[in-house]
Amino acid sequence: MIKEIKIYKGDIIFCASPDKFTTLENGYIITENNKIKKTVCELPSEYSDCEILDFSGNLIIPGFVDIHLHAPQFENLGLGYDNELLPWLENYTFPEEAKFSDTEYAKIIYSKFIKALYTHGTTRSVVFSSLHLESTEILADLFLESGLGAYVGKVNMDRNSPEFLTENYEKSLEETEYFIKKYNSPDSLVKPIITPRFVPTCTPELMEGLSKLSEKYNIPVQSHLSENLSEIEWVKELHKEIGSYAKVYDHYKMFGDRPTIMAHCIHNTSDEIKLMQEKGVFVAHCPTSNFNLSSGIAPVRKFLDSSVKVGIGTDIAGGHTVSMPETIVAAIHASKMYNVYVDRSFHSLSISEAFFLATKGGGEFFGKVGSFEKDYEFDALIVNDTELNGNSRKNLQDRLEKYIYFGTKEDIKKVFVSGKEINRNRF
Ligand code: GUN
Ligand code: FE
Repeated sequence: MIKEIKIYKGDIIFCASPDKFTTLENGYIITENNKIKKTVCELPSEYSDCEILDFSGNLIIPGFVDIHLHAPQFENLGLGYDNELLPWLENYTFPEEAKFSDTEYAKIIYSKFIKALYTHGTTRSVVFSSLHLESTEILADLFLESGLGAYVGKVNMDRNSPEFLTENYEKSLEETEYFIKKYNSPDSLVKPIITPRFVPTCTPELMEGLSKLSEKYNIPVQSHLSENLSEIEWVKELHKEIGSYAKVYDHYKMFGDRPTIMAHCIHNTSDEIKLMQEKGVFVAHCPTSNFNLSSGIAPVRKFLDSSVKVGIGTDIAGGHTVSMPETIVAAIHASKMYNVYVDRSFHSLSISEAFFLATKGGGEFFGKVGSFEKDYEFDALIVNDTELNGNSRKNLQDRLEKYIYFGTKEDIKKVFVSGKEINRNRF
């Protein structure tokens, strides 16, 4: 096999671990066949004849990884936040998602959605579609065309949903299997994920069937867990025999039996947190959504101290923005308020911890993604932060912090996923 070597030069900053940034001013990332070989300060002489993409003066940072968001809610950004979760779903979310029975509408909105992702520097995402098969195929095809990485899930929901947005479980399973077979390819950047919406909208028969599909095709799982107090009471009523919300998923072998993401996880018991740790379940921490829908503050420090895997999700349109930098800031704010108002012993997230969660933390769900260490895929953003810094010269960590808090999507000059530049004029 021919070795394709590409070298990227610039001011490199990333988090290999949560506690600190790795910085290389005027450094080099050497890639071979789109995977990182070395990240170095000085270019070894053996590479002196190789092509260098020179971004001197720009930041080179890992692309952002958003591990929880809803593509068909894109038009609802900023709507309905006087409601808590259940009335918000009923009055805003379900009526909007129902529109995706129309594939023309899906093409328009999903193109806008994907454009918003790459424009904001999100290179990988784990996405809920709606229950509609054809529109979900459109979403997966648009992701493939864009060059972004994604897990895409056809939503499953066959109870406690309005008539205009509910399925029969047999058809739901058939369509899910069709979608899995069509897109399940190990080398693809776009892959299927099993997506029971949440326990209240899925019958035991549906959960049983989805679990079998997950096992048969070795497909990961995503859902929602313990987001809102009324939701948790409802699950208790529906599954008195099982005893806890997390255990319902576990009962159906959809809680870490395959790679699993549970969104929110705000009000879990200590036993549930222990189960998440034991089974390697990822928490998608979605602070903007949790503020908008008055859901609460997830105990992220407790997860980190308990070795639970954590990534960050925008949860649009529970969250009001697809911007991961804004969501990183919200995660830091949430942790500060948790520290002041809930438990002084849980210290707040540092900028490196929050940045880690938004890159390598969530990136782990995709394999070696979200860092510039050896063997990682080259997913990167080139950020020109000259305007942000004015005349003052700052160290790399300060420049990154300034960009996260104060930068905009206009500062992003190029986006790479697995070594390929994304054409940002495609949609
Ligand atoms: N729980 C079930 N469905 C949803 C949804 O669409 N958004 C959020 N935030 N929570 C949910
Ligand atoms: Fe969600």
